[in-house]
Amino acid sequence: MNLLFLNPAGSPGGAERALLDVMASLAAARPGWRLGLIAAADGVLVEEARAMGVDAAVVKFPRAVSLLGDAAAGGPAGDHTNPLAVAGRVAAAAPAIASYTRALRRAIAERAPDAIHTNGFKMHVLGAWAAPRATPLIWHLHDYVRARPMMSRLLRAHAGRTAAIIANSHSVADDARRLFGGRANVLAVHNAVDLERFSPAGHALDLDRLAGLPPLGEGGVRVGLMATLARWKGHRTFLRALADLPAHSPVRGYVIGGPLYETAGSQHALEDLRGYAGALGLDGRAGFTGFVADAPAALRALDIVVHASTEPEPFGLVIAEAMACGKPVIASAAGGAGELFADGSEALSHKPGDAAELARAIARLAADRALRLRLGAAAAAAARHRFTRARLAAELIPIYERAVGAKRTRPAA
Ligand code: GLC
Repeated sequence: MNLLFLNPAGSPGGAERALLDVMASLAAARPGWRLGLIAAADGVLVEEARAMGVDAAVVKFPRAVSLLGDAAAGGPAGDHTNPLAVAGRVAAAAPAIASYTRALRRAIAERAPDAIHTNGFKMHVLGAWAAPRATPLIWHLHDYVRARPMMSRLLRAHAGRTAAIIANSHSVADDARRLFGGRANVLAVHNAVDLERFSPAGHALDLDRLAGLPPLGEGGVRVGLMATLARWKGHRTFLRALADLPAHSPVRGYVIGGPLYETAGSQHALEDLRGYAGALGLDGRAGFTGFVADAPAALRALDIVVHASTEPEPFGLVIAEAMACGKPVIASAAGGAGELFADGSEALSHKPGDAAELARAIARLAADRALRLRLGAAAAAAARHRFTRARLAAELIPIYERAVGAKRTRPAA
């Protein structure tokens, strides 16, 4: 099997981390398969793919194409750009899109893959345009399609081209089925986590130093939100919850992460969040570490991990990663995130955007070390069987084999 992955970004956000696990799990389960990757930008994704033996190349998006996106035009990031502005940018980018499609077509032809797996909205569409007609195309959805006004139309128009559509949760799969109807075969496959990196034992970061805060005293409880700065990840909800805690609370909050996507208007600026924390009176009680490369070491440094997405979370890789590190998690339980843990015994949940409820859950866990340990241990045990790469490979391999087999048995035109 010669499998080619197409990814619109070069550095790892959630979808890219998930893709690395897909490639690693296939490399381990099917060492004879040839795995290739074309990414639209340089970065850690490409480096890490190469390190695991994937034949990775960069076919760079022209700037006009990398800036395109409707995440902020009535999509999950809210109405910070209007759809007309997005349509205008698409029109202006048309020549760049056409020349990129040609470059991608050449790069695909050189590799002559048996099947193509696209990972990200732009690559689903570009892949449909650039892939040879006879090559099975598999889309891997990491986000709700119907939340994207422009993309949902484009994807619906091309869904019939796919051999299969993989969704990262049942929730995302249901959303896709509602949009695509009978046009496509949608299958839910949960992500895996690298359980060797994300494990309870190992090095922990000095978050206080990274955030420029004095060391937290004996008895202090570290509570952190680790996410990209996408607006819907709930940074403000988290900060409001911290401000809701009583003044004598032992909790110190940490915002871990930095800006990632280039799409206009879809993310917070770190400075705005600092200003917001200041206005809430959180000086000294909340810190900002900026981007952290060693995610497991950041998670290990926390006593409680908060996930606070204000929109239904498609999957919520950080929840799975924190569970794998044996951490008690308080998750915003809507969407695919609710599929990852047994509520109350493997993690706690709160209503998306409800800072008061989140504050109550933080206060409860901060006061009860035994409960933290119990939840953390149950989470680690669940993660060790739910998020393995072996499970991921076992679910994916038949999807590729069926797609390629169906093509072989189809009579030649
Ligand atoms: C996207 C989703 C996130 C998921 C990740 C990996 O980033 O928004 O929920 O964890 O993809 O599938």
